[in-house]
Amino acid sequence: MSDSAVLTISNLDVDLGHGLSTARVLAGMNLAVRRGGAVGIVGESGSGKSTLAKTIVGIHRAAGGSIVFDGTELTGASRRTLGSLRRRLQYIPQDPFSSLDPRRTIGQTLAEAIDPVHARLRRHRAAVVEALTSVGLGEDAVDRFPHEFSGGQRQRIAIARALVVKPDVIIADEITSALDVSTQAEILRLLARLRAELGLTMLFISHNLAVVEELCDEVVVLLHGKVVEAGPTGDVFAAPRDPYTRTLLESVPGGAAFDVTAPLVTATLKTVPARGGRGRH
Ligand SMILES: Nc1ncnc2c1ncn2[C@@H]1O[C@H](COP(=O)(O)OP(=O)(O)OP(=O)(O)O)[C@@H](O)[C@H]1O
Ligand SMILES: [Mg+2]
Repeated sequence: MSDSAVLTISNLDVDLGHGLSTARVLAGMNLAVRRGGAVGIVGESGSGKSTLAKTIVGIHRAAGGSIVFDGTELTGASRRTLGSLRRRLQYIPQDPFSSLDPRRTIGQTLAEAIDPVHARLRRHRAAVVEALTSVGLGEDAVDRFPHEFSGGQRQRIAIARALVVKPDVIIADEITSALDVSTQAEILRLLARLRAELGLTMLFISHNLAVVEELCDEVVVLLHGKVVEAGPTGDVFAAPRDPYTRTLLESVPGGAAFDVTAPLVTATLKTVPARGGRGRH
């Protein structure tokens, strides 16, 4: 394991379910994420990707093994220790529609992320506006409700909610899968920019291998709750050693890589000429 790892997971076991239906969902999982690194987690549905994310942020409990974040063991730590540490690990769930409270304004939601007890928007307004601005939303978003925003805008808000507490690590769980392709590209470019600007460490869970290739310097392949392959993204994608990784890569349509540095697709669409039937593809 690397010394510069900000997050080190060793021999992690996680059991989910109750009684006789309890199942081991993660078994002997190992992972080291270096500070400022971006690690992609890939694997088929049910392989344990979300379980890993949720265990890191304390939604699920580990049955065995260890999770060390910035030198502190998270499994078995006191509630108080966990409270302050876990704020520095922010989880962004998949669905931008159900992850925001419909009865709260965006400002209230972000103020609550900063201070869950008092949630005083007036006091935290500057930080809230700064976070919204960093994801490309205006100050007017503060007093509006989630239903007034599109899916892509809500995902930006969810990212702002994670950023507003100034985390070290962002764990993004399929955050673009509910969005259309051009909005996906916008959100991915936003994440790449924020990572570069803020030095964020990222765990990026995705079904989209092209996106992982573009955004992540390392990749971990999960199958049935176990790591079958891990390493620098370029190496793993160019020469996968595990048969399952090869199968995953073969299922990707050729040459579909995202270019996170390209200009916004939406901007291109607006400049399509009004006349002429010889449209480009
Ligand atoms: N609360 C739970 N209780 C019992 N089993 C669960 C629970 N949550 C998930 N599981 C099981 O754990 C396994 C891993 O689920 P998980 O959600 O981590 O998969 P995933 O890789 O995130 O899949 P997807 O790509 O579909 O999001 C699955 O078999 C799932 O049925
Ligand atoms: Mg999942």
